[in-house]
Amino acid sequence: MTELPSTNFNPPFNITRASHLIFTARDLKRSRDFYTEVMGLIVSDEDADTIWLRGVEEIAHHSLTLKRTTDRPMCERVGFRVFSDEDLDKAKSHFDRIGIKADFVEVPHQGRTLHFSDPAGTPVELVATMERRPRMYTKIHQHKGAGALRMDHYQVLVPDVLANARFYMDLGFRISDYLYVEGPGVVVGTFLHRKNNPWDIVFLTRSGPRFHHGGYVVEAFEDIVRACDVAGNLGFGDRIEHGPGRHGHQHAYYLYVRDPDGHRTELLLPGIQLIDIDEAPLKCPVDPKSNSNLWGLPAPRSWVEEATSFAGVTVKTPPVEGSPMTAEKYLSEKKAEAVMG
Ligand SMILES: [Fe+2]
Repeated sequence: MTELPSTNFNPPFNITRASHLIFTARDLKRSRDFYTEVMGLIVSDEDADTIWLRGVEEIAHHSLTLKRTTDRPMCERVGFRVFSDEDLDKAKSHFDRIGIKADFVEVPHQGRTLHFSDPAGTPVELVATMERRPRMYTKIHQHKGAGALRMDHYQVLVPDVLANARFYMDLGFRISDYLYVEGPGVVVGTFLHRKNNPWDIVFLTRSGPRFHHGGYVVEAFEDIVRACDVAGNLGFGDRIEHGPGRHGHQHAYYLYVRDPDGHRTELLLPGIQLIDIDEAPLKCPVDPKSNSNLWGLPAPRSWVEEATSFAGVTVKTPPVEGSPMTAEKYLSEKKAEAVMG
């Protein structure tokens, strides 16, 4: 059994949650339609080259920034909140001490912002404050599509999940669940959290770092169905990639949708509450030969293989990439079983 890293419960600074993402997009108008009409995000600000969006519950200026590009669409950076401005200075000192380059930068609509890269090469930024906008939660007449409430988590593909998990656990992150393949005895996924639910950042073993998806919480399952209906009516029907379904490892109902540039968003119901010190990491055995969801098909091949590149980052391949079950394999095996009678 592979040893899991342990959490440092007295971290050098205080990250509070996964909070925002920055993507590039080739057709801002089309992306704007996708995120406002299907996902139901609110536009906080926009100019000719950038759109800043937030969920209907969010008071923060943005949880998603879209920047115009004429190149291949990328994820520029993932963002976390820290508790206070003082934590940014503590973070800078910590990274200086352990030899990680970290720089303060100016970012529109945000307070002081610290950039660094994690050991896998994922570009990260930390902020304590953003401009504020009104919560639109009770402005029901203005809600659209899924009416996405708030950014919940994101998932990054990395070649060494335990090495990256160790880095974040030194910063106070806890493992809620981990994916474990019994035969070879390897951990292939770690679900890490700082806030009181199971996820802030998730790592799965693949070539990386690559951005896999960002998750927005919705209020009810009906909101997921409404997102599908709106997507179908507005020409985004073929962007629905996986689900609706129920994750097999204690997780919520889900739907994965690709935006016009292929960036993937998950809509999900709120997760369970995890706070207490005696919540131990939950081992979730993975059988690569079967569907790991409670119902619905396994993820399609595109979900397993395709991801968004991070700008200017070298991708490394793990020693063993594994071969997770896909919907395509699952159905062809079922068909073969039926023929065999
Ligand atoms: Fe997710």
